Amino acid sequence: MASIVGGVGTSHVPPIGKAIDDGLTQDAYWVPLFDGYAKARSWIADVAPDTLIVVYNDHFNGLPIDVVPTFAIGVAPVFPPADEGFGCRPIPHVQGHPELAWHAAENLILDGFDMTVLSRLNVDHGLTVPLSIMFDQPKAWPCRVIPLLVNVIQFPPPTARRCFELGRAIRRAVGAFEGSERVVVVGTGGMSHQLQGERAGLINPEFDAEFLDAIGRDPAKVADLPHDVYVRLAGSEGLEMIMWLVMRGALGDHVEEIHRHYHVAASNTAAGLLVLEPAQYAAT
Ligand code: DHB
Ligand code: FE
Repeated sequence: MASIVGGVGTSHVPPIGKAIDDGLTQDAYWVPLFDGYAKARSWIADVAPDTLIVVYNDHFNGLPIDVVPTFAIGVAPVFPPADEGFGCRPIPHVQGHPELAWHAAENLILDGFDMTVLSRLNVDHGLTVPLSIMFDQPKAWPCRVIPLLVNVIQFPPPTARRCFELGRAIRRAVGAFEGSERVVVVGTGGMSHQLQGERAGLINPEFDAEFLDAIGRDPAKVADLPHDVYVRLAGSEGLEMIMWLVMRGALGDHVEEIHRHYHVAASNTAAGLLVLEPAQYAAT
């Protein structure tokens, strides 16, 4: 049986990737952020997952602006980085896992989640920046990656509760995959930020702290918040945080918090990082 051995929640702010690409991580601006990544990097090196399922939103870079699936899964063998208007990032292509991805697509659809299946996809900062956060700048990414896309950019997005339930369905699907695959699920985006309109620049550390506390111990508390509460408290782009609930749902009922890091600000965003393990895998 394949199994889910860990979960990561992380922001996907583009300038974090650019700082790595340009060798700026030791600059004064970036040091406090990157200091908080060291423990997560050593954790994932120890866990050495075979595959990551990265839950993220495309920002109109990999998919056309007029096609916005609510939930989608990438089943291709390889996903090149997207050109987001300033050339592609100098990073390796992402190797997919078609066998597990098709298995997940079928199982999720039979379980009531009508996934759009993407056989071709260029992956934008929503996916590639979290890879850089966890693995720095290797010649090749150390594991395979299944992109799982959630619409949080165009009304109407799915509810936080629906994202949590999708995570639970992912847990069932991975558990039904034959073999000994060890999978880490990464939920990306957030934390509080708003990039546009009158409230551009909004950051809410109180809400972010409540979210970080709740998602491990009491996920229902944040899974049952409606969209307007996320947008009011965390900003319009803060709604990305509902994607962390897919990760949380995939970990089962009880989790152990391994690492937490929070830094204001990276670019316009409150940058958060949370590493969780399902209770049976956590060291006691
Ligand atoms: C920023 C944050 C994001 O989540 C994003 O998708 C793009 C930009 C930022 O803070 O600059
Ligand atoms: Fe984003």
